[in-house]
Amino acid sequence: MSKKETQDFNLIVKDILDNQEFNKLNNELHHGITRYDHVLRVAKTTYKFSRFFHMKNTELTTRAALLHDFYTDSQMMESNKVAKLTIHPNLAYENALKYYDINDLQANIIKSHMFPLKGEIPKYKESWLVSAVDKLVAAYEMSHYKASLYLNIFALFLFNLLIQK
Ligand SMILES: [Fe+2]
Ligand SMILES: [Fe+2]
Repeated sequence: MSKKETQDFNLIVKDILDNQEFNKLNNELHHGITRYDHVLRVAKTTYKFSRFFHMKNTELTTRAALLHDFYTDSQMMESNKVAKLTIHPNLAYENALKYYDINDLQANIIKSHMFPLKGEIPKYKESWLVSAVDKLVAAYEMSHYKASLYLNIFALFLFNLLIQK
C-alpha cells in the first residue's frame, strides 16, 4: 500500500484497532498466527481490491472485513471443529454489534463470509469480495505459517527427545 493508502486505511479502522475487546484477538491462535493478524490482513487486502475495482463502499466493506472474525475461542460453546466453522460468523456479528453501527451490507459480509458452508448467502458484491479474500488469505496463511508452526513444534519435540537421552 502507498503511504496515502496506509493513512486512509488507518483512519477507516482506527476505532476498531483501539477497541480493548478487539485487541483480545491478539491472544487467539488462527491459521498459525494470531486472529488479529489474520483479520488485519483480510481487511487490508479487501481495502486494496475494493479500491482497485472502484467499489463504492470501500470504508464499510473494509470495516466489516476487519470484524469478520471478531470472536474469542472462550465465547464458543461448541467444541466440535465443523460446528465452530459455521457458528463463528454469527458470533462475530453479535460482537461487532455491541460496539459499532452495522448496516445490512456489513451484517451480510460478516454472516456470509464462510459461504458455501452453512450460514447466510452473500447478497452483495462486497460480501463475495470479502468471502473470496478471506479464503485466499487463509490459504496463504496456512501454507506460510501453519506448516512452519507444525515444523517448529516437531523440531522442539525432536530436540526434547535428543536431550532426554
Ligand atoms: Fe471466519
Ligand atoms: Fe477469516
